[in-house]
Amino acid sequence: MKYHIHTYGCQMNVRDSEAVGALLEQRGIARAESEDDADIVIVNTCSVREKAEDKAFGKLGLLCASKRERPGRVIGVMGCMAQRIANGLFKRLPALDFAVGTRATALVPDAVEQALAGRRRICLVGGADKNSESPKVRESESPGVRADIVTAHEPGAVSAFVTILLGCERKCAYCIVPTVRGAEYSRPGADVVREVAEVAATGARDVTLLGQSVMRYGIRTPVWPESHVSPMGFTEPLPRLFEAIHAAVPSLRRIRFTSGHPSGVTPELVRAMTEIPSVCPHLHLPVQSGSDRILAAMGRGYTRAEYLESVARLRAAVPDIAITTDVIVGFPGETEEDFEQTSTLLEEAAVDNVFVFKYSPRPGTRSSLWPDDVSDAEKMRRNQQLLAEQDRRGLAINERWIGRTVEVLAEGPSLRNRERWAGRSPQNKIVVFDPVPGIAVGDFVQVEITEAQPQTLHGVCRTSP
Ligand code: 5AD
Ligand code: SF4
Repeated sequence: MKYHIHTYGCQMNVRDSEAVGALLEQRGIARAESEDDADIVIVNTCSVREKAEDKAFGKLGLLCASKRERPGRVIGVMGCMAQRIANGLFKRLPALDFAVGTRATALVPDAVEQALAGRRRICLVGGADKNSESPKVRESESPGVRADIVTAHEPGAVSAFVTILLGCERKCAYCIVPTVRGAEYSRPGADVVREVAEVAATGARDVTLLGQSVMRYGIRTPVWPESHVSPMGFTEPLPRLFEAIHAAVPSLRRIRFTSGHPSGVTPELVRAMTEIPSVCPHLHLPVQSGSDRILAAMGRGYTRAEYLESVARLRAAVPDIAITTDVIVGFPGETEEDFEQTSTLLEEAAVDNVFVFKYSPRPGTRSSLWPDDVSDAEKMRRNQQLLAEQDRRGLAINERWIGRTVEVLAEGPSLRNRERWAGRSPQNKIVVFDPVPGIAVGDFVQVEITEAQPQTLHGVCRTSP
């Protein structure tokens, strides 16, 4: 038996897919070379924009149709759409075998085994409706549903994700994440430290700590064994977690965390980023809009000035820090003037990169009740403008790296040109370089930057590994 997992959405999903893959392998199900080769195909889904759901439905439609020629094939859905639509998925996709929600990820292998045994339309989603052909599973009824914190990893990966905070409670007006990922739950610090130590022992050199709003780690549900109280006297949980990891896993050279929020850029966090050498000089700090009016409507909890102030504080304290961000264009009521505020904010913050999203109303969110009054063509124009501006800005920022030597974690041959290698700088910039003899995946090498592009640096390797 062989499996294939097709993943949409954020890093949290990438991490969950990896964990499910490792769990399946523990049960003797091997990873397929390709989707075609797989007896079990799982689609890990995202609900953050309608387009993401449409893509997953398209993919699942084709997969379910493939069961006509391959009746024994198992097709399943996990992730946010499984959580959101639950049994509704079987109405649209009658040949689908299972749907497992975000709080039941650890149960995907059970669903696979049940489907292989011939059970149909398995729905393991907390609060699933009564139309289910399988018994309803509530979080309170099944201990496995809370066991979504799956710690299994693919051994040998150079970069690893470790989930530290599940769910989200910020409730931004546009965002479906609190609905599909549920209440915040911070993992005990000791468990996180143990998992980081394990991935580092099996080859990880760069670990990213994940949470939808990661700086809220430990704030609502803090679990701190006394031994992890920081000798530096930090009182905030995330800086203390960095400290605990740094102390327990001294061989780990790079710690990252995502995604940030300006309210979490406290003096203690900045101090941790400055003083703990393994915490990388990079922060993904979604801003969403540069207009105070739109930020207030979104319920983001900060103003344009406060966002810029948090960026300024980071830049003043952390040398060469790279800041990346997310922006939504065409939020209800966004005027040309509001949009221009976003454009100028990105310039003032001098962001290294921006991910631009066209506003998409999501069922059950506050903003879905407001008129989606910016046309699709206008959303597209605003999107293109911000991307063009970022190309110019990114190039100018990256050109400042020419002539400097950066430490690169070698990830292997570049996807575009197999003769060259690619890796990441501490700032998380992709660096493409000519490999030196004897170089191996996971080595740290010094690369002198010789050429810059908006999203990539190119250089020459100056050290042997
Ligand atoms: N429409 C468009 N973009 C959205 N995002 C979240 N919700 C929506 C929505 N309804 C974007 C935000 C977030 C990123 C992951 O997706 O920019 O930071
Ligand atoms: Fe969504 Fe806001 Fe949570 Fe981010 S912080 S995931 S935008 S609700």
